[in-house]
Amino acid sequence: PVLVVDFGAQYAQLIARRVREAGVYSELVPHTVTADEVAAKNPVGIILSGGPSSVYEPGAPSLDPAIFDLKVPTLGICYGFQVMAKTLGGEVAHTGLREYGATDAVIAGDGGVLLGGQPVEQNVWMSHGDQVSQAPEGFQVLASTAVTPVAAFADDERCLYGVQWHPEVKHSPYGQDVLENFLHRAAGLPADWNSGNVIEEQVARIREQVGSARVISALSGGVDSAVSTALVHRAIGDQLTAVFVDHGLLRKGEREQVEQDYVASTGVRLITVEAADTFLGHLAGVTDPEQKRKIIGREFIRAFEKVQRDLVEEAKAEGEPIRFLVQGTLYPDVVESGGGAGTANIKSHHNVGGLPEDLDFELIEPLRTLFKDEVRAIGRELGLPEAIVGRQPFPGPGLGIRIVGEVTADRLEILREADAIAREELSAAGLDREIWQCPVVLLADVRSVGVQGDGRTYGHPIVLRPVSSEDAMTADWTRLPYDVLSKISNRITNEVREVNRVVLDVTSKPPGTIEWE
Ligand code: XMP
Repeated sequence: PVLVVDFGAQYAQLIARRVREAGVYSELVPHTVTADEVAAKNPVGIILSGGPSSVYEPGAPSLDPAIFDLKVPTLGICYGFQVMAKTLGGEVAHTGLREYGATDAVIAGDGGVLLGGQPVEQNVWMSHGDQVSQAPEGFQVLASTAVTPVAAFADDERCLYGVQWHPEVKHSPYGQDVLENFLHRAAGLPADWNSGNVIEEQVARIREQVGSARVISALSGGVDSAVSTALVHRAIGDQLTAVFVDHGLLRKGEREQVEQDYVASTGVRLITVEAADTFLGHLAGVTDPEQKRKIIGREFIRAFEKVQRDLVEEAKAEGEPIRFLVQGTLYPDVVESGGGAGTANIKSHHNVGGLPEDLDFELIEPLRTLFKDEVRAIGRELGLPEAIVGRQPFPGPGLGIRIVGEVTADRLEILREADAIAREELSAAGLDREIWQCPVVLLADVRSVGVQGDGRTYGHPIVLRPVSSEDAMTADWTRLPYDVLSKISNRITNEVREVNRVVLDVTSKPPGTIEWE
């Protein structure tokens, strides 16, 4: 693989993803990795990520210098570029001059292998305080900016490269070219990795992890769990039982879709657990979002454990206990629950941070290093129907985190109807692909005055939260056509009792998250 060394920025996984987009397999490793550990992974390339620190801060993350002696082609980015410069004898200056955001860079000479063929003046995305003031011996300077004399460098002989800017973000228009030049031209790696490889690899890994033991899978109806379940089914066939928990927080028609369409297309053995009353009982009186998430996460696991007990006799008869649980955890879930090195906890996604500590299963999470679009590609490769693979994301805690206030059966019914109308109209308008998802939120503790017929109403607002996104890490609100919004608003206020107002959320992420809770 190409190893992406994580210096603690959320950019690291984005780099790994861009490398995979270039058709080269990549994995993340923490910056504390030793040269021996790196060598053991037989890397064909190394990329040092950006990071939040200054190389001069006490305790600033560093790198085992022996890694540079392994003769593996290496590219340093931003902080990684500075670590490289400093480690190899160059100078990093703390000048107090900063560059944040779009910056003009000027390429020196022909730009070498890394920047050759690109415009001599180009816009790049910067985010740094220190700068490399002198390149290490043997390095050639490839670019500079008004503030940074050494904004990119190369030592072709040792196959070491670096850029001060962030080539992995879309705001650097030639960024992907920089990465591809490093991978294909400098390191000579072919573009031969694709979602088919992930399937083969994961199938082999799952078989090894599981042996002949039995496995249950958490199926929610969403893309992530559908794909992870199908992947595990591909690996171990009937050793797998999929479990679908009807927690009463589902959208209209969702249970039927899982019980009929999914089973028809995969042949997976499915058990549905009726748990609506249990979940609502535990959620009674709870309004705090984190508490809701923890309760729902905990009850999910409890429901599985109950199934496990029910199945245990049967499994015993066959000689193998159930020890494993499949979950469709994706990389963004891991990062946002504080799982990446040095990233902050934003909210507890129920399939990661909300897990109880007395968890009785070993987890199988085959999608843990992937982004949504990669997961969809794998689902298509596995032959899942478009209706499932193309589904917009829906959070594990379901409508429970889309009711601001206490979750009750009545409120769920109101939200379910409003959500069904919004989804129906967005689909009818052909907007499913344009939007990433459109949470519909009930502000259950807010009331406003309205007028309907000749009478005064005092009902609740519904919030529409249409967002466009590439990977849910960042998002913008979708500019939906007014006539579609108008239609949704008319229908919801006319058809859903207790709702007398529809409002539109026009906040990007950040600062807002996609879900309201
Ligand atoms: P936020 O609200 O964090 O959402 O911006 C990012 C993406 O994750 C989905 N989401 C979840 N998915 N379990 C999940 O499986 C969860 O607990 C959860 N919370 C949010 C959300 O719908 C969006 O796509």
